[in-house]
Amino acid sequence: FGYGTPSLLAAVADYYKARFEVALDPKREITALLGSKEGIFHLTQALIQEGDVALVPDPGYPVYRVAAEWAGADVHPLPLRREKEFLPDLDSIPHEVLRRSRIMWLNYPNNPTGAVAGRDFYERALDLARRNNIILCHDAAYGDVAYDGYRPMSILALDGARGCAVEFSSVSKTYNMAGWRLGFVSGNADAVSAVRKVKGNIDSGIFPAVTAAGEAALRGDQAWLAARNAIYARRRDWILAGLAGIGIRADSPKASLYIWAPVPDGFTAESFADSLLEQTGVCFSPGTFFGGEGQGYVRISVATPDDRVREAIQRIRRWKPS
Ligand SMILES: Cc1ncc(COP(=O)(O)O)c(C=O)c1O
Repeated sequence: FGYGTPSLLAAVADYYKARFEVALDPKREITALLGSKEGIFHLTQALIQEGDVALVPDPGYPVYRVAAEWAGADVHPLPLRREKEFLPDLDSIPHEVLRRSRIMWLNYPNNPTGAVAGRDFYERALDLARRNNIILCHDAAYGDVAYDGYRPMSILALDGARGCAVEFSSVSKTYNMAGWRLGFVSGNADAVSAVRKVKGNIDSGIFPAVTAAGEAALRGDQAWLAARNAIYARRRDWILAGLAGIGIRADSPKASLYIWAPVPDGFTAESFADSLLEQTGVCFSPGTFFGGEGQGYVRISVATPDDRVREAIQRIRRWKPS
């Protein structure tokens, strides 16, 4: 059961059915991972080689880029900019790049920008992938972390998506089980089979207690997620108000664990994060950690406990940059 026990894979299939109305064949279309990070890396090794191109969002979760570089592929960044709602401009990818592209990464709800994507965008991305023989990898790690009634969709819910797309999901963010190391890749059967081949030579499956815990989380009552998400939304609102108090206007994310805030005039992403850390002890991630397009931004997490968030806001409000 190196790729997940039949009952764990059935629990994932039932989750997809209940949550997204997507019917997956657990034998061919789902593989369990030691956390989605591992699968992102190994799927890349399975699918691409030297001379291929990987289309990778910038800013983005760094593993997409590093995995492609390890496979010897060229990375073509897809800039995510505020004026395009942090969605890549699919029409601007040069034809020559598309011809060599084997894999495209999308991640919504997005780390680090907090942006979300809708059906229309996913349809255009799928169409592009289909026409160019690209495997579209959608990282949905934050698919169940959403606020104010917003419900992220699955790319696998689109007609024909399984012809060229896979989706990564994870118990880390959905069920607050990041330390347990359990994730899934679902969708295109050839890609799922390819990642199984790579993993079959690298790991020997999941600790049965983690399998049992993951299954319990997937099959349990999902109602608590709304209460958990309401806690994140409350922190989000506190942080946005705190930032506004020092003149920073950030967009309010509908989903994900992150606020993507522009830095004040006169700072870079790094100088702002460094000064804040040194002078107040509050830690924001400089946007450039996620790629060059992150310049001018910091990422702020809502996963920090309430009392720490309140303390951080007080310190920022008292801060006089020197
Ligand atoms: C966008 C994104 N994808 C994947 C992961 C990896 O999650 P895990 O390996 O815990 O499933 C993370 C973790 O931070 C993430 O932010």
